[in-house]
Amino acid sequence: MKINQKEQAMQELSKQINSCEKCELYKTRNKPLVGDGSANAKILAIGESPGYYEDIENKAFAGEAGKILNQLLDSIGLKRSDIYITNVLKCHPPRNHNPNRQEIDSCISYLHKQIDIMKPKLIITLGKFASREIFAKYNLEFTRISEIRGKVFEIETLESRLKIIPLLHPAVACYHSEMINVLKDDFKKLGNVLNNNAEKQN
Ligand code: URA
Repeated sequence: MKINQKEQAMQELSKQINSCEKCELYKTRNKPLVGDGSANAKILAIGESPGYYEDIENKAFAGEAGKILNQLLDSIGLKRSDIYITNVLKCHPPRNHNPNRQEIDSCISYLHKQIDIMKPKLIITLGKFASREIFAKYNLEFTRISEIRGKVFEIETLESRLKIIPLLHPAVACYHSEMINVLKDDFKKLGNVLNNNAEKQN
């Protein structure tokens, strides 16, 4: 797909997501959060679901977890504009409840379509929900996020090669400030992968 075709395909998909009523979340959310960034980015970051502030601002990682994510990206010289950020769920779950199976099953095809459109070279999964769903998509065995975090998984698809790096969710550092060091170490590994490859370049 050419550059403009990717943006166009993402816009078409946004229309579907914006009118989605496949699960109950459309009743309480403000607006679905499709994702932020360019459909041409080579790096796709996937979080869990939009939080309270993301629902209000319609911007991924706009709240406290977003400040930590920015700090982590900054620590390895990545800018938000280098990546496309989305979530497993496109709608904010009330009281930030964990995504349940029915919500995920209703929503996951949108994430799969985003991946089909973008054909990213690198997927960063933030937290256990995104990691579990992406591991399932690529038939990788998901054990525990604490076991797989910071490791690089390589996938050969029919069309391209893809790297997947599962990471802890940045929000862990909101509740346990010392976890910022673990996150920074794992992001360093991501930085090393980027330095050795050309994923960052569009
Ligand atoms: N947490 C997430 O997983 N995603 C967001 O967009 C914000 C917070």
